[in-house]
Amino acid sequence: MLSPQQQQYISQASDYIRQHNHICILTGAGISAESGIPTFRDKQTGLWENYRAEDLANIGAFERNPSLVWSWYQWRRHLVKDKKPNPAHQALARWQKQLSGMTLITQNVDDLHEQAGSTVTHLHGHLWKNRCSRCDLPYDLPVDYENSALLHCQHCSGYIRPDIVWFGEILPQQEWRDAQMAVTRCEVFIAIGTSSIVYPAAGLAELAKYNPQRAKIIEINPNPTDNPMVDIQIQAKAGDALPVLVEQLLELE
Ligand code: OAD
Repeated sequence: MLSPQQQQYISQASDYIRQHNHICILTGAGISAESGIPTFRDKQTGLWENYRAEDLANIGAFERNPSLVWSWYQWRRHLVKDKKPNPAHQALARWQKQLSGMTLITQNVDDLHEQAGSTVTHLHGHLWKNRCSRCDLPYDLPVDYENSALLHCQHCSGYIRPDIVWFGEILPQQEWRDAQMAVTRCEVFIAIGTSSIVYPAAGLAELAKYNPQRAKIIEINPNPTDNPMVDIQIQAKAGDALPVLVEQLLELE
């Protein structure tokens, strides 16, 4: 249930969005929270409660203890495998399908945007893909997500790792270029469900704000961030705010 103030900010955002043609959306872990996938800043549970996500999603950690990091990802896969898109993913898919000019970029490694029917650029890789940590070749053999034993590359015997960008690694070049290009052209940039603290993705809002169009920055997050770039802050869950926002955009067409 949205408060009158939340509704007012959503209307302000939709009025602005409909006057513009190039919209960029960056999503983070918060958009999948209502599907039951914990965010990175949530405390971990069960076996992993004494670890911080950023200490495991880390190239140094994998080099020191590949077994620990692989087991953690197998556990995350187990956690994510049955999760379904929520109303926020569905609203964005509807937006992309029924209106032109929206580019969707995500920091998430789940595939809930795709499951909802969106086309999305992944900046941090894919939870369901694997590659060799030594020769970098893709590992396409089936992986049993219930088994946390390390796997080896068929070509060089290196350890297999998830095809995910870790702290200390660079983003995939093509995806990063595509994202920067879209953000440079956009007139509105919407950050949804991201703490906006992990760079370089967090820098996209600033790139948008100072691009030639001086894009307006909108944030959708129940816990507003300190991001000084934000012009319109919709303090609400993505699954509450986005269906209303998209409905308004479609009505106003
Ligand atoms: P974080 O876990 O840092 O932040 C999640 C954000 O989602 C927080 O600001 C929450 O307030 C917000 N949130 C929670 N529930 C929400 C909801 N229902 N609707 C909208 N927002 C909600 O996640 P990211 O910003 O995505 O990188 O983290 C960025 C990167 O740091 C991740 O991609 C990952 C991580 O370490 C790598 O693994 C390389």
